[in-house]
Amino acid sequence: MGGIVGYIGTDNAVDVIISSLRKMEYRGYDSAGITILNDDLVTYKTAGKISELEKIIPAGFNGHIGIGHTRGATHGKPETRNAHPHLSSNIAVVHNGIIENYMRLKEKLIEQGYEFLSDTDTEVIAHLLHRTMKDNEACSLIDAVRHIMTKIEGSYAIAVLCTDEPDHIVLARKDSPLIIGLGDKNYFAASDVTAFLRYTKNAVYINDMELVQISPGGVEFYNNDGQRIEKQIEVIEWNEEAAEKAGYEHFMLKEIHEQPTSIQDTYAGRISELEGRVILDELKMDEDQLRNLQRVTIIACGTSWNAGCVGKYLFENLAGIHTDVETASEFRYADPVLCGQIFTLAITQSGETADTLAAVKSTKAYGCSSAAITNVVGSTITRETDSVFFTRAGPEIGVAATKSFTAQLIVLYLIAIHMGTVRGRLTPQTTRDILVGIKQLPGQVQRILNNKDVIKKCAEHYANVQDYFFIGRHLNYPVSLEGALKLKEISYIHAEGYAAGEIKHGPLALISSETPVVAIATKGHTYDKVLSNIKEIKARSAEVIVVANESDNEISKYVDRVLRIPDCHELLSPVLSAVVLQLLAYYTALARGCSIDKPRNLAKSVTVE
Ligand code: F6R
Repeated sequence: MGGIVGYIGTDNAVDVIISSLRKMEYRGYDSAGITILNDDLVTYKTAGKISELEKIIPAGFNGHIGIGHTRGATHGKPETRNAHPHLSSNIAVVHNGIIENYMRLKEKLIEQGYEFLSDTDTEVIAHLLHRTMKDNEACSLIDAVRHIMTKIEGSYAIAVLCTDEPDHIVLARKDSPLIIGLGDKNYFAASDVTAFLRYTKNAVYINDMELVQISPGGVEFYNNDGQRIEKQIEVIEWNEEAAEKAGYEHFMLKEIHEQPTSIQDTYAGRISELEGRVILDELKMDEDQLRNLQRVTIIACGTSWNAGCVGKYLFENLAGIHTDVETASEFRYADPVLCGQIFTLAITQSGETADTLAAVKSTKAYGCSSAAITNVVGSTITRETDSVFFTRAGPEIGVAATKSFTAQLIVLYLIAIHMGTVRGRLTPQTTRDILVGIKQLPGQVQRILNNKDVIKKCAEHYANVQDYFFIGRHLNYPVSLEGALKLKEISYIHAEGYAAGEIKHGPLALISSETPVVAIATKGHTYDKVLSNIKEIKARSAEVIVVANESDNEISKYVDRVLRIPDCHELLSPVLSAVVLQLLAYYTALARGCSIDKPRNLAKSVTVE
């Protein structure tokens, strides 16, 4: 994820920028860089940690105006040439976010004679600004930034320096955080308030499509019509530790709330709504290989395995490919029957899970095409498979996987749609419907978060039970497994996820007034069947909590509590239901006083067998 920093003031800009970048290290990054504006722009950047950057900055180098960056690779490998700042002649830019239409802009700029030195999307911003100021000599830096905001699509927080205006840093944002810190003759900009909290507690939060100009004499805020606006100064009361959690009580709660952004970041640049198709440049398989595929074998552990189980339904429904989901710890000692027409897909948030890595290695001898879905750039799994799809969820610090799970689902939708399109299984209309539906997910997740009090009350009501059941059918079966896993790992309540139709084959013996049952009963082709299962359970006096769509007016007649998700395409509901179940687990654990971010006996990355 990384972040941007800007500073103008009386202190040494190099020291301030480096210390601010360090404060954002927890956001994850793979390269770092800094530009100081003295008479000229002087830039140092490198792949690797901030300590590597410090090694290449000459002793005594300083200044009073500068920008800095930590980069989590999205476009282009984590190499020095892809690290920010990016330059175009007398302009330097740092950027946090993703420019979705950068390829089209890049082609035009190349035709106009611009030379690109990196594979990043960000470099187009530097060249576009240069082009704009060259075409119109009277154009100020802030006007140029405003102009290019009409050209670039996607998400961004940018900070720009230009030697023509040596007293200014210009910044702008859309869908990527940007906060300004106001000190005494010292002004800061950053992606995260933690970056400057040791210097000032006075912060101004920038909204989408707003611009900022920082000068030694003060800070000016503008809307995107070029009018000056007043902004409210907020005094941040958090200490640095609380600030890392953005004021949330736990990282898990913060990460649950980050899902509108992490979902959007994960599909950004991978969906062309215009053409109604998915763009998966990362997939190193040609169309013939995709058409000839006989099987998909998904390999994963824990929550990633649950995502894989949702994936099975997606690959079979959308792409018509038989799919198996293998538990990595079992698969590595099995006798798999594999061949060249099988696509093996490892799913691992950390990219370091020992069992998943060993299982993937064991498939190599069979000549399968292989791919990984992971959240961690540079992790071991990225060197073990032919293709790598990064979820762009940002670092997940809470041990319980939340935003990484929903980001994995987004990548699975995109791969399944791509395969379904190539294999002629999907009509353009179905593809378009699902793609439009995916783009609605961030707003729909936000709606669930806005109404979380209902979930909190429900969690508190049942916080002292000893056992919970979660049931669902079809895609909602793995969602029920994930709901049970989340609850057991952080609240220590025994919880079991079950295929709703299996309940009567044994577990019904355990159902009583003491065992609440969470039934995922979202609208879809198995809805009526789940309703029958709910009635069976109610007949055994158990209390039923249902996850249902907002428009389902009937369901409350049959159950004790209803937790709502917005109406959506049947295949997309797992993303929304998962958020409800994450909150249910979180508030249950909170009510029980558990150690939520670090549950007992569990580790974030399981690097041993
Ligand atoms: C549950 C959880 C674990 C992980 C599992 C695999 O909340 O986090 O079940 O999903 O250990 O980890 P990764 O995805 O890193 O391979």
